[in-house]
Amino acid sequence: METKQSVLQYLAQRAGKWVSSAEIVTTLGVSRTAVWKAIKQLQERHYQIDSQAGKGYLYTPNETLSDLVIAQQIDPQWTLEVHDQLDSTNLRAKQLAATRSVTPTIIVANEQTTGYGRFGRHFYSPSQTGIYMSFLLPVSGTDLNPGKLTTGVAVAAAHAIEKQYAVAVQIKWVNDLIVNDHKVAGILSEAIADVESGTISSVIVGIGINLAPNDVVPEALRTKVGALTADQQLDRNQTAINVIQAVTEMLQHGDDQAIMTEYRQRCIVIGAQVSVRIGTCELEGRVTTIDDDGALILDTKTGTQVVGAGEITKLNLKEGGYRG
Ligand code: BTN
Repeated sequence: METKQSVLQYLAQRAGKWVSSAEIVTTLGVSRTAVWKAIKQLQERHYQIDSQAGKGYLYTPNETLSDLVIAQQIDPQWTLEVHDQLDSTNLRAKQLAATRSVTPTIIVANEQTTGYGRFGRHFYSPSQTGIYMSFLLPVSGTDLNPGKLTTGVAVAAAHAIEKQYAVAVQIKWVNDLIVNDHKVAGILSEAIADVESGTISSVIVGIGINLAPNDVVPEALRTKVGALTADQQLDRNQTAINVIQAVTEMLQHGDDQAIMTEYRQRCIVIGAQVSVRIGTCELEGRVTTIDDDGALILDTKTGTQVVGAGEITKLNLKEGGYRG
């Protein structure tokens, strides 16, 4: 491990406490000059590390995203990339999938210039107040079920968010995360096909979370889009870590039945009268449930319809203010 990485790890484990230079020197077995240089490099990379004669160094987590901080707390099976700005983390994942054999990879960005959502819609991804990440996973040779992955990630992300923020997360089918009747996160899954075998070779699951309000978001969207906190002092690394840990846990030990049961409990559309767009058709009906494959079961005038993929365009709830 590089000195700057071990110094950061040492300080991060003692966040909020002054640590003397002598302690770091002795514990890590590096020179005083090496510690000083490492601290300077870390400060240049926007880590908040205060220094004071006689006291040493004080690390305070801040909103700056850091590969070093995140990498320390996630399963080492992941290859991690953290970018200050990207066009889109999903596009970066596609690029990686096309250029090398796929290993489990996570791409995180502070900001996206052309982040996109379902149906190619623009996904506002301003810097500092949100977090944008994609999971790239090989499918072949694993028992990964791409269909269930999206619902699993929605439930895992809900857990991760509730661990850190004082909110209750609901889900709007398919995969919008809702807090206080507003969308706070969107999830987009994409499959990469192996042209020769005609099978899915890897999947990409991208998630974008609005952590705090941001004026960059256009006025018209602000009525629909919400945030997890009004506090602008964010520890986005912790959010990234929480989401990655929850998704890792789901991938390693997730029970499909339990995930779907929780998905249904969190889902705001069950029991509601909805309009669903499927391609160019529009269906109206009452949602009776979501089945174990994640399909919407709709009670329509002409009978029961099973909707595997589509978009709810109108949602009338008996309670609550969501009118998306
Ligand atoms: C939606 O609401 O329709 C889904 C939005 C998904 C946005 C995320 S942000 C990270 C990843 N990169 C993208 O360009 N999109 C996904």
